[in-house]
Amino acid sequence: MPKFDYFNLLSPIYDMVFAQRQEHELVDLLEIENCQTLLDVGGGTGRVSVLFKNTTKKIFIADTAINMLQLARDKGLATVVSESEHLPFPDQIFNRIIMVDTFHHVKDQRQSLDEMWRLLTPRGKMVIEEPDIQHLLVKLIALGERLLLMRSQFKKPQAIVEMCQFVPHSDVKLIRRKGFAWIIITKKEID
Ligand SMILES: C[S@@+](CC[C@H](N)C(=O)[O-])C[C@H]1O[C@@H](n2cnc3c(N)ncnc32)[C@H](O)[C@@H]1O
Repeated sequence: MPKFDYFNLLSPIYDMVFAQRQEHELVDLLEIENCQTLLDVGGGTGRVSVLFKNTTKKIFIADTAINMLQLARDKGLATVVSESEHLPFPDQIFNRIIMVDTFHHVKDQRQSLDEMWRLLTPRGKMVIEEPDIQHLLVKLIALGERLLLMRSQFKKPQAIVEMCQFVPHSDVKLIRRKGFAWIIITKKEID
């Protein structure tokens, strides 16, 4: 029997409920230039990736929910059904990797970070955007997700920063604003 997936169920209304913010912070944080490759892990309907469609040579969305991915394909985006813990790509092929509102949903956060790091090119950049669990509204959302048995694992932004220290090759920054946190990880070139 196929495994129950909340996001397959939510997919028909997802883009209506989670509207795209006009001035998405990721656009500035990612510093996307032409001819770059972007992987959106847990990218769902492509709600965020679509922002980069005209400035990025190749975008892939990896997600476990096939109904979410169908909506991404309808937006002209390439998709792959995949868990973030096992991404089916060779090492060091993406200049930019994003994970938006997904980190708390993945089963194995450590393994997902290691996979994303493996795929990142030297001088590449990955950005994890998460609801900031230290914000009251986010605490209520986390409670709601717990009541719905969604098995979310919210981490404090600083704890995610600590998980992203791929010493000595990473440079990690944290930005927190209005209930959101952005963890920006750059892969330093190795001499
Ligand atoms: C809240 S949605 C966010 C979707 C998209 N990033 C956005 O901001 O619109 C979380 C997404 O993570 C996906 N997801 C959950 N666990 C995953 C995993 N282990 N690997 C890949 N995708 C996963 C879900 O299917 C869902 O599409």
